[in-house]
Amino acid sequence: MTTTCSAPGKIYLFGEHAVVYGEPAIACAVDLRTRISVEKSDAITISSDIGTTGLDFDIHPYVSAAIKKLGCMETSIKITSDIPMGSGLGSSAAVTIATLAAINIEFGLGHDSAELARMGHEIEKEIQGAASPTDTYVSTFGGVVEIPSRKRLEIPGCGIVVGNTNKGATPKKTARLVKQVATLKEDYPEIVNPIIKTIGSFAVKGESLLQKKDYCSLGELMNVNHGLLDALGVGTAELSSLVYAARNAGAFGAKITGAGGGGCMVALTDSPDEVASAIEAAGGKVIITKFTSKGVIRE
Ligand code: MEV
Repeated sequence: MTTTCSAPGKIYLFGEHAVVYGEPAIACAVDLRTRISVEKSDAITISSDIGTTGLDFDIHPYVSAAIKKLGCMETSIKITSDIPMGSGLGSSAAVTIATLAAINIEFGLGHDSAELARMGHEIEKEIQGAASPTDTYVSTFGGVVEIPSRKRLEIPGCGIVVGNTNKGATPKKTARLVKQVATLKEDYPEIVNPIIKTIGSFAVKGESLLQKKDYCSLGELMNVNHGLLDALGVGTAELSSLVYAARNAGAFGAKITGAGGGGCMVALTDSPDEVASAIEAAGGKVIITKFTSKGVIRE
Protein backbone atom coordinates (compact mmCIF):
# COMPACT_ATOMS: atom_id res chain seq x y z
CA MET A 1 0.00 0.00 0.00
CA THR A 2 1.10 3.60 -0.59
CA THR A 3 -0.15 6.51 1.50
CA THR A 4 0.05 10.02 0.04
CA CYS A 5 -0.56 13.10 2.16
CA SER A 6 -0.23 16.75 1.22
CA ALA A 7 0.14 19.83 3.39
CA PRO A 8 -0.07 23.52 2.45
CA GLY A 9 2.37 26.39 2.65
CA LYS A 10 1.42 29.72 4.21
CA ILE A 11 1.72 33.46 3.94
CA TYR A 12 1.52 36.12 6.64
CA LEU A 13 -1.15 38.75 6.07
CA PHE A 14 0.25 40.60 9.08
CA GLY A 15 2.66 40.22 11.94
CA GLU A 16 5.87 38.34 11.09
CA HIS A 17 8.77 39.20 13.42
CA ALA A 18 6.42 40.88 15.94
CA VAL A 19 4.91 37.42 16.57
CA VAL A 20 8.29 36.37 18.00
CA TYR A 21 7.62 38.84 20.85
CA GLY A 22 4.10 37.54 21.56
CA GLU A 23 2.29 40.08 19.36
CA PRO A 24 -0.68 38.83 17.35
CA ALA A 25 -0.27 37.88 13.69
CA ILE A 26 -2.52 36.56 10.93
CA ALA A 27 -1.18 33.59 8.97
CA CYS A 28 -3.03 31.99 6.05
CA ALA A 29 -2.68 28.58 4.42
CA VAL A 30 -2.29 28.88 0.66
CA ASP A 31 -3.01 26.38 -2.03
CA LEU A 32 0.62 25.46 -2.68
CA ARG A 33 1.21 21.96 -1.39
CA THR A 34 3.96 19.50 -0.61
CA ARG A 35 3.03 15.88 -1.33
CA ILE A 36 4.62 12.94 0.44
CA SER A 37 4.09 9.33 -0.60
CA VAL A 38 5.08 6.67 1.91
CA GLU A 39 5.42 2.93 1.31
CA LYS A 40 6.67 0.24 3.68
CA SER A 41 10.07 -0.99 2.53
CA ASP A 42 13.06 -2.97 3.81
CA ALA A 43 15.28 0.14 3.98
CA ILE A 44 14.82 3.89 4.42
CA THR A 45 14.93 5.79 1.12
CA ILE A 46 13.97 9.44 0.64
CA SER A 47 13.64 10.77 -2.94
CA SER A 48 13.11 14.35 -4.04
CA ASP A 49 14.26 16.75 -6.77
CA ILE A 50 17.59 17.03 -4.99
CA GLY A 51 18.34 13.31 -5.00
CA THR A 52 17.75 9.98 -3.28
CA THR A 53 19.22 9.37 0.15
CA GLY A 54 18.77 7.25 3.26
CA LEU A 55 18.18 8.96 6.60
CA ASP A 56 20.16 12.13 5.82
CA PHE A 57 20.03 15.21 8.03
CA ASP A 58 21.96 17.35 5.53
CA ILE A 59 20.02 16.70 2.35
CA HIS A 60 16.56 15.76 3.71
CA PRO A 61 16.64 17.09 7.29
CA TYR A 62 12.88 17.49 7.92
CA VAL A 63 11.84 14.13 6.45
CA SER A 64 14.71 12.37 8.25
CA ALA A 65 13.71 14.01 11.53
CA ALA A 66 10.06 13.03 11.00
CA ILE A 67 11.00 9.38 10.37
CA LYS A 68 13.17 9.42 13.50
CA LYS A 69 10.49 11.09 15.61
CA LEU A 70 7.94 8.42 14.69
CA GLY A 71 10.32 5.55 15.43
CA CYS A 72 12.65 5.16 12.43
CA MET A 73 10.37 2.86 10.47
CA GLU A 74 11.75 1.37 7.27
CA THR A 75 9.98 3.18 4.55
CA SER A 76 10.36 4.56 1.07
CA ILE A 77 9.36 8.24 0.83
CA LYS A 78 8.82 10.36 -2.27
CA ILE A 79 8.60 14.16 -2.01
CA THR A 80 7.12 16.53 -4.59
CA SER A 81 6.35 20.15 -3.85
CA ASP A 82 4.81 23.34 -5.28
CA ILE A 83 6.44 25.42 -2.53
CA PRO A 84 9.79 27.08 -3.24
CA MET A 85 12.24 26.14 -0.48
CA GLY A 86 13.42 28.58 2.18
CA SER A 87 11.55 31.55 0.71
CA GLY A 88 9.11 32.39 3.52
CA LEU A 89 6.20 30.23 2.35
CA GLY A 90 6.48 27.55 5.02
CA SER A 91 8.09 24.85 2.85
CA SER A 92 9.81 23.14 5.78
CA ALA A 93 6.61 22.97 7.86
CA ALA A 94 4.67 21.54 4.90
CA VAL A 95 7.21 18.79 4.20
CA THR A 96 7.43 17.94 7.91
CA ILE A 97 3.67 17.80 8.49
CA ALA A 98 2.91 15.86 5.29
CA THR A 99 5.62 13.31 6.19
CA LEU A 100 4.38 12.87 9.76
CA ALA A 101 0.79 12.47 8.52
CA ALA A 102 1.63 9.96 5.78
CA ILE A 103 3.77 7.76 8.07
CA ASN A 104 1.10 8.02 10.77
CA ILE A 105 -1.52 6.60 8.40
CA GLU A 106 0.67 4.05 6.59
CA PHE A 107 1.89 2.52 9.88
CA GLY A 108 -1.40 2.98 11.77
CA LEU A 109 0.22 4.95 14.60
CA GLY A 110 -2.97 6.74 15.67
CA HIS A 111 -1.61 10.24 16.39
CA ASP A 112 -4.21 13.01 16.11
CA SER A 113 -3.68 16.27 14.20
CA ALA A 114 -2.77 18.27 17.32
CA GLU A 115 -0.01 15.75 18.08
CA LEU A 116 1.27 15.94 14.50
CA ALA A 117 1.38 19.77 14.72
CA ARG A 118 3.24 19.58 18.05
CA MET A 119 5.77 17.07 16.71
CA GLY A 120 6.21 19.17 13.58
CA HIS A 121 7.02 22.22 15.68
CA GLU A 122 9.55 20.22 17.72
CA ILE A 123 11.23 19.08 14.50
CA GLU A 124 11.42 22.67 13.15
CA LYS A 125 12.99 23.79 16.45
CA GLU A 126 15.50 20.91 16.42
CA ILE A 127 16.60 21.69 12.88
CA GLN A 128 16.37 25.49 12.76
CA GLY A 129 17.34 26.23 16.34
CA ALA A 130 14.24 28.42 16.79
CA ALA A 131 10.80 28.46 15.20
CA SER A 132 7.37 29.70 16.16
CA PRO A 133 4.58 27.10 15.99
CA THR A 134 2.81 29.20 13.33
CA ASP A 135 3.95 27.39 10.19
CA THR A 136 3.40 23.85 11.46
CA TYR A 137 0.01 24.79 12.98
CA VAL A 138 -1.27 26.44 9.79
CA SER A 139 0.08 23.62 7.62
CA THR A 140 -1.74 21.05 9.79
CA PHE A 141 -5.10 22.80 10.13
CA GLY A 142 -5.25 25.14 7.09
CA GLY A 143 -7.39 28.30 6.95
CA VAL A 144 -6.72 31.82 8.15
CA VAL A 145 -5.52 31.81 11.73
CA GLU A 146 -4.80 34.45 14.31
CA ILE A 147 -1.63 33.67 16.23
CA PRO A 148 -1.15 33.07 19.17
CA SER A 149 -4.89 32.68 19.95
CA ARG A 150 -5.34 30.16 17.07
CA LYS A 151 -8.71 31.74 16.36
CA ARG A 152 -9.92 30.85 12.86
CA LEU A 153 -10.83 33.90 10.81
CA GLU A 154 -12.81 34.54 7.65
CA ILE A 155 -11.05 33.38 4.47
CA PRO A 156 -10.59 36.40 2.16
CA GLY A 157 -12.70 36.25 -0.98
CA CYS A 158 -10.02 37.78 -3.18
CA GLY A 159 -6.88 36.51 -4.87
CA ILE A 160 -3.28 36.48 -3.82
CA VAL A 161 -0.17 36.67 -5.90
CA VAL A 162 3.22 35.67 -4.53
CA GLY A 163 6.38 37.18 -5.99
CA ASN A 164 9.65 35.39 -5.33
CA THR A 165 12.85 37.43 -5.52
CA ASN A 166 14.76 34.12 -5.83
CA LYS A 167 17.32 35.60 -3.50
CA GLY A 168 18.35 34.98 0.07
CA ALA A 169 16.96 31.45 0.47
CA THR A 170 19.45 29.92 2.90
CA PRO A 171 18.56 27.38 5.59
CA LYS A 172 19.61 29.61 8.51
CA LYS A 173 18.16 32.83 7.09
CA THR A 174 15.13 33.06 9.39
CA ALA A 175 17.22 32.53 12.52
CA ARG A 176 19.72 35.18 11.36
CA LEU A 177 17.01 37.77 10.64
CA VAL A 178 15.18 37.10 13.91
CA LYS A 179 18.51 37.68 15.69
CA GLN A 180 19.15 40.85 13.70
CA VAL A 181 15.78 42.29 14.79
CA ALA A 182 16.52 41.27 18.40
CA THR A 183 19.80 43.22 18.28
CA LEU A 184 18.08 46.31 16.86
CA LYS A 185 15.47 46.01 19.62
CA GLU A 186 18.16 45.77 22.29
CA ASP A 187 20.08 48.73 20.86
CA TYR A 188 17.05 51.03 20.44
CA PRO A 189 14.22 49.68 22.65
CA GLU A 190 12.39 53.01 22.82
CA ILE A 191 12.20 53.14 19.01
CA VAL A 192 11.86 49.48 18.05
CA ASN A 193 9.37 48.34 20.75
CA PRO A 194 6.62 50.68 19.49
CA ILE A 195 7.20 49.44 15.93
CA ILE A 196 6.74 45.85 17.10
CA LYS A 197 3.57 46.81 19.04
CA THR A 198 2.19 48.58 15.98
CA ILE A 199 2.85 45.53 13.82
CA GLY A 200 0.90 43.49 16.39
CA SER A 201 -2.05 45.89 16.13
CA PHE A 202 -2.57 45.09 12.42
CA ALA A 203 -3.82 41.60 13.28
CA VAL A 204 -6.43 43.03 15.69
CA LYS A 205 -7.71 45.49 13.10
CA GLY A 206 -7.33 42.87 10.34
CA GLU A 207 -9.76 40.50 12.05
CA SER A 208 -12.67 42.95 11.77
CA LEU A 209 -11.68 43.99 8.24
CA LEU A 210 -11.73 40.33 7.18
CA GLN A 211 -15.20 40.00 8.67
CA LYS A 212 -16.38 43.07 6.73
CA LYS A 213 -14.63 41.79 3.56
CA ASP A 214 -12.95 45.20 3.36
CA TYR A 215 -9.99 44.16 1.18
CA CYS A 216 -9.10 47.78 0.32
CA SER A 217 -8.40 48.62 3.96
CA LEU A 218 -6.65 45.27 4.53
CA GLY A 219 -4.38 46.08 1.61
CA GLU A 220 -3.70 49.56 2.94
CA LEU A 221 -2.60 48.08 6.26
CA MET A 222 -0.45 45.46 4.49
CA ASN A 223 1.36 48.41 2.88
CA VAL A 224 1.96 49.98 6.28
CA ASN A 225 3.12 46.61 7.66
CA HIS A 226 5.61 46.37 4.78
CA GLY A 227 7.01 49.79 5.65
CA LEU A 228 7.51 48.76 9.27
CA LEU A 229 9.23 45.49 8.28
CA ASP A 230 11.54 47.63 6.16
CA ALA A 231 12.12 49.82 9.22
CA LEU A 232 13.14 46.70 11.17
CA GLY A 233 15.80 46.07 8.52
CA VAL A 234 14.41 42.90 6.94
CA GLY A 235 13.48 44.44 3.58
CA THR A 236 15.57 44.32 0.42
CA ALA A 237 15.59 46.45 -2.73
CA GLU A 238 14.32 43.46 -4.74
CA LEU A 239 11.42 42.83 -2.35
CA SER A 240 10.37 46.47 -2.40
CA SER A 241 10.61 46.61 -6.16
CA LEU A 242 8.14 43.69 -6.46
CA VAL A 243 5.91 45.21 -3.76
CA TYR A 244 5.73 48.57 -5.59
CA ALA A 245 5.15 46.86 -8.95
CA ALA A 246 2.17 45.01 -7.46
CA ARG A 247 0.71 48.15 -5.88
CA ASN A 248 1.15 50.15 -9.10
CA ALA A 249 -0.71 47.40 -10.96
CA GLY A 250 -3.73 47.93 -8.70
CA ALA A 251 -3.22 45.42 -5.86
CA PHE A 252 -5.17 46.23 -2.68
CA GLY A 253 -1.83 45.99 -0.89
CA ALA A 254 1.50 44.20 -0.93
CA LYS A 255 4.18 43.30 1.59
CA ILE A 256 7.04 40.99 2.48
CA THR A 257 5.86 37.59 3.72
CA GLY A 258 7.97 35.61 6.17
CA ALA A 259 11.34 36.56 7.54
CA GLY A 260 12.39 38.84 4.65
CA GLY A 261 16.01 39.36 3.61
CA GLY A 262 14.97 38.18 0.13
CA GLY A 263 12.45 35.38 -0.36
CA CYS A 264 8.86 36.31 -1.16
CA MET A 265 6.38 39.15 -1.12
CA VAL A 266 2.63 38.77 -1.30
CA ALA A 267 -0.05 40.93 -2.90
CA LEU A 268 -3.78 40.92 -2.14
CA THR A 269 -5.76 41.59 -5.30
CA ASP A 270 -8.88 40.94 -7.32
CA SER A 271 -6.95 41.24 -10.58
CA PRO A 272 -4.26 38.55 -10.18
CA ASP A 273 -3.23 38.42 -13.84
CA GLU A 274 -2.39 42.15 -14.03
CA VAL A 275 -0.53 42.04 -10.71
CA ALA A 276 1.35 38.89 -11.75
CA SER A 277 2.50 40.50 -15.03
CA ALA A 278 3.75 43.57 -13.16
CA ILE A 279 5.69 41.46 -10.65
CA GLU A 280 7.20 39.44 -13.47
CA ALA A 281 8.19 42.60 -15.36
CA ALA A 282 9.94 43.77 -12.17
CA GLY A 283 12.04 40.58 -12.15
CA GLY A 284 10.06 38.36 -9.76
CA LYS A 285 9.06 34.76 -10.21
CA VAL A 286 5.29 34.69 -9.85
CA ILE A 287 2.93 32.23 -8.23
CA ILE A 288 -0.80 32.96 -8.49
CA THR A 289 -2.49 31.05 -5.70
CA LYS A 290 -5.48 31.17 -3.38
CA PHE A 291 -6.31 30.92 0.29
CA THR A 292 -7.28 27.44 1.40
CA SER A 293 -9.14 26.01 4.37
CA LYS A 294 -7.50 22.62 3.75
CA GLY A 295 -4.66 21.70 6.05
CA VAL A 296 -2.92 18.35 5.83
CA ILE A 297 -5.01 15.81 3.93
CA ARG A 298 -4.77 12.27 2.63
CA GLU A 299 -4.86 12.29 -1.16
C1 MEV B 1 9.23 33.60 9.56
O1 MEV B 1 8.39 32.94 8.60
C2 MEV B 1 8.39 34.39 10.52
C3 MEV B 1 9.16 35.02 11.68
O2 MEV B 1 8.20 35.75 12.44
C4 MEV B 1 9.83 33.97 12.55
C5 MEV B 1 8.86 33.06 13.31
O3 MEV B 1 7.73 33.46 13.58
O4 MEV B 1 9.31 31.93 13.64
C6 MEV B 1 10.21 35.98 11.19
